[in-house]
Amino acid sequence: MLSIKNVSKKYSNDFTALSNFNLELEGGVIGLLGANGAGKSTLMKMIATVSKPSEGIITWKGHDIHKNGDELRHDLGYLPQSFGVFPNLTAVEFLKYMAALKGINMKKAITRISELIDLLNLNEVANKRIGNYSGGMKQRIGIAQALLNDPKIIIFDEPTVGLDPNERMNFRNLINSLSKDKIIILSTHIVSDVESSAEKIVLMNNGKLICFCKNEELLNSLEGNVWEYLTQESELEDIKNKYITGNIIRRNEGMVVRIISETKPKSEAVNVQATLEDAYIYYTSGKRGRNIE
Ligand SMILES: Nc1ncnc2c1ncn2[C@@H]1O[C@H](COP(=O)(O)OP(=O)(O)OP(=O)(O)O)[C@@H](O)[C@H]1O
Ligand SMILES: [Mg+2]
Repeated sequence: MLSIKNVSKKYSNDFTALSNFNLELEGGVIGLLGANGAGKSTLMKMIATVSKPSEGIITWKGHDIHKNGDELRHDLGYLPQSFGVFPNLTAVEFLKYMAALKGINMKKAITRISELIDLLNLNEVANKRIGNYSGGMKQRIGIAQALLNDPKIIIFDEPTVGLDPNERMNFRNLINSLSKDKIIILSTHIVSDVESSAEKIVLMNNGKLICFCKNEELLNSLEGNVWEYLTQESELEDIKNKYITGNIIRRNEGMVVRIISETKPKSEAVNVQATLEDAYIYYTSGKRGRNIE
């Protein structure tokens, strides 16, 4: 239903933030993973029609969204990465204002606003000025406004920034409760946020698509290539220069280092189960020696 064909984005300073991107999305949760500057927000802004591709075409239900974006915008819920709110309004006032902008019938909007306030645990602050909210509470208002119109396509750019662990879990549950026929695209660097909820992962690096695949495919591609062994702190620098390293855990007896490598890095190294974080580190690292199969 959402099709991205040969899309590139060159900014006015001639910098290419996205090169020749191709994706076909139908339904379900899609996790956009990539380092800072990978081009996640650039892609999301173009899908949300707030920015135009320099080349290529994005279609929704078969129509070019940059020729006529009305249909897409009607079906869209969007949380931009930097989401500004009006500090003098309360949550309820702000959400009513957004509902009016979206052309939602006010009676319907009021019911929906009270549902969303509940879902996002904002009851206690619903009638207080947003200016006095914590960062995580403001973020939850941003999530709520994106869901006001029961959108068919939802774009969340870094939705979990500033959320505490309970609220992150609540957000994951909220995503999982949304119907499966919606397209939900969410970007994050917190790999665990998409590990459980995203059916598919778009992994990107330096504006290029590395893979669009299922979680399991990414994990399978690293099978047998993730290792751990105990080492000393003095060895770490060398190891990091030589290998792609993941988590390093300090123990009484030394440091347990996690390495992603096609060959066994040391005789005592043992194979461990790959995680999505390993895949992210491996495929976005300049050191990797091969492409995903
Ligand atoms: N308006 C702009 N003009 C010029 N370059 C830009 C502009 N917006 C973004 N860029 C550049 O494009 C690249 C991609 O930026 P983008 O914001 O899409 O990355 P991102 O993956 O969302 O990163 P982050 O994880 O930090 O949010 C970056 O190198 C950025 O500096
Ligand atoms: Mg971004």
